[in-house]
Amino acid sequence: MGKQFLSAVALAAVGAGMGPASAWAQEAGAPPVNLAAAEARADQTVKAMTADERTTLTHGNMAIQLFPGAPPIPEDAVPGAGYIAGLPRLGVPALKETDASLGVAWVGGARKRGATALPSGIAQAASWDPAVLHDGGAMIGAEARASGYNVLLAGGVNLTRDPRNGRTFEYLSEDPLLSGVLVGAAIRGIQSNHIISTIKHFALNGQETGRQFVDIQIGNAAARESDLLAFQIGIEQGQPGAIMCAYNRVNGPRACASDWLLNTVLKRDWRYKGFVMSDWGAVPGLEAATAGLDQQSGEQLDKAVYFGSKLADKAATDKAWAARLADMNRRVLTAIYATGVDKNPVTPGGQWDQAAHSAVAEKAAIAGMVLLRNQNNALPLLRDAKSVAVIGGYADGGVISGGGSSQVQGDGGPVVSRPVLAAGMFAGIMQEQFHRSSPLDAIKQRLPQAAMHFRDGRYIADAVEAARRSDVAIVFATEWRTEGLDQPDLSLPDGQDALIAAVAAANPRTIVVLETGGPVAMPWLDKTAAVLEAWYPGARGGEAIAKVLFGEANPGGRLPVTFPASVAQLPRPKLDGSDTLDPDFMGNPPTPQTTLKADYNIEGSDVGYRWFARTGAKPLFPFGYGLSYTTFAQDGLSVDGKTARFTLRNTGKVAGDDVGQVYLVDRAGSAKRRLVGFARVHLEPGESKTVSVPIDPRLLADWQDAGKGGWTMPAGTYGFALGSDAETLGQVVTVRLPARNWKD
Ligand code: BGC
Repeated sequence: MGKQFLSAVALAAVGAGMGPASAWAQEAGAPPVNLAAAEARADQTVKAMTADERTTLTHGNMAIQLFPGAPPIPEDAVPGAGYIAGLPRLGVPALKETDASLGVAWVGGARKRGATALPSGIAQAASWDPAVLHDGGAMIGAEARASGYNVLLAGGVNLTRDPRNGRTFEYLSEDPLLSGVLVGAAIRGIQSNHIISTIKHFALNGQETGRQFVDIQIGNAAARESDLLAFQIGIEQGQPGAIMCAYNRVNGPRACASDWLLNTVLKRDWRYKGFVMSDWGAVPGLEAATAGLDQQSGEQLDKAVYFGSKLADKAATDKAWAARLADMNRRVLTAIYATGVDKNPVTPGGQWDQAAHSAVAEKAAIAGMVLLRNQNNALPLLRDAKSVAVIGGYADGGVISGGGSSQVQGDGGPVVSRPVLAAGMFAGIMQEQFHRSSPLDAIKQRLPQAAMHFRDGRYIADAVEAARRSDVAIVFATEWRTEGLDQPDLSLPDGQDALIAAVAAANPRTIVVLETGGPVAMPWLDKTAAVLEAWYPGARGGEAIAKVLFGEANPGGRLPVTFPASVAQLPRPKLDGSDTLDPDFMGNPPTPQTTLKADYNIEGSDVGYRWFARTGAKPLFPFGYGLSYTTFAQDGLSVDGKTARFTLRNTGKVAGDDVGQVYLVDRAGSAKRRLVGFARVHLEPGESKTVSVPIDPRLLADWQDAGKGGWTMPAGTYGFALGSDAETLGQVVTVRLPARNWKD
């Protein structure tokens, strides 16, 4: 079964209207979970609960001692992000929660055991391969289970509306289809371990600056066609037991108290049956329960415990509140029963096959590497190089990773840890940390005869000297990002742009390996021989980089986000709040009166490449872009409105993976640019494959609140093109489609 088939099957399931009652916990081959039965059981359990028991599942603590004198963590808790007590009398297990999408997180040193770090989310997304996300999810889910956790706070899928967003590395892409399909695959992998996965942060958590109070302005239709569509597809395909609502405000209310987001969109329109948990410190008050929030997480970070005795008091005197409380319990229990958390108890101290898990991380890292430039076949590197200068990026030690709650550490901790905050509550997770996987060592192994000149890159003159007397110079450039802070611009920090420019001037065979959390500018690009975007490549990043540099693996990643030429091209050249707020991890308002708005109506649903298509601006590298050590031909596109078929051919001399991307380019005479289908295909030299991908009709439609409401497609001629990226498109193929209107 080809990789493209996996995504095709998954998409076909959506097209066939596979509702929330399908699969929650299993992958292909496992028996389907009967969601209706889980709900019925949940009902029974709720009926058996005493009034006191009814607020047990609705709130919980962080399972770490946040500050000296803080309440002790419960005896059966595992140090981690959160703990929700269980009801042993009723066979309901406690929920033991850990971050996040990239592996079992470290929680500021409280959890002592190492875990396997996947490459960043954006790196995994650059694979354009649901199988990579699924396997990664299955691996980190297994480690969560073996570490005693039954809830993984994973599934980060906020669209990259701004390339400066500090959490870009945790998320996937700027496109709703790509993000939705990939996050769905990751969640299926995680929940195949009979643990609950979240999808987060619902919704429109597009920047970290002022994240607790920034008010996102966006029309309902634009939201449904973009960020919400990514969640909708992800929920359909992944069936996560829980949704984590976001910190920010959306058109006024906090996301965790947004009746529109939680009650109308998620629970009414999407018929979501699991539960909504808050982000940590995102609950404004008890009223969030009536807006659709089911569980208050990390309650030490809120002003009060709203979903404990305060909620119980309301329910004791008011029928509507009692019914809401019963529903909150029903939803948490439905997730527990549907995923099998109760029948498959977790215990800490479990083992896993370290080599096998590292191999999953390495495969994902390789699959996501994007070759951005390769002049005169500078790559792959030849093994007869006599002398190589390796410069910067702590390449002698390891590979960089992203900061914040998703930080994973392997056994032995990071090989380099550079504090960014030296003091305060969040200092533990505000450090540049490097996983123990040295690119320099991996390069040395492959060039035992060559003279190696390593320079740390702190002094340009010294690096230039080493580059000048080497056949090849490889510069490792790092860009650290973290939850809680956005990037000020797209430059590389610490003078690395100047370093690269100087090294490239000294040695025309300069290869730049980027370890970045998202898009960066490359003022030195034209002077270099090759550029490889390796992102944050995870636990085996050094080996993965070397394998690609030496052609043991052929890079097949494609950019899941546009790399702008400058911030002036963005819908918001100035990131809102960046000029008025000081950096603050929690993103709280400096005074209770401070307000902040971010206007997403500027681009509406035209996020990323769609914005560039609309404005005609030329990015540095377009969405979907990536080179290979071989060449491909793409042709034969045919579209019938429900399916696109096309042929990919390897016209070069080595095996490689191509990604066919089908875009809607015109609808009834109006220009569009929307990814409607994609498939990553492995091709031997000379081989060709014809691929069929389903087209989700929502990508052909617009959302309308007015009139009949729902998704609406005008009758007319629809034009599609096959592309190797969002700007390099083949001949337009047209099909006439009738008008359509439907609800979900
Ligand atoms: C983050 C979440 C995370 C939670 C628990 C929050 O600060 O936004 O993504 O799951 O903390 O650690």
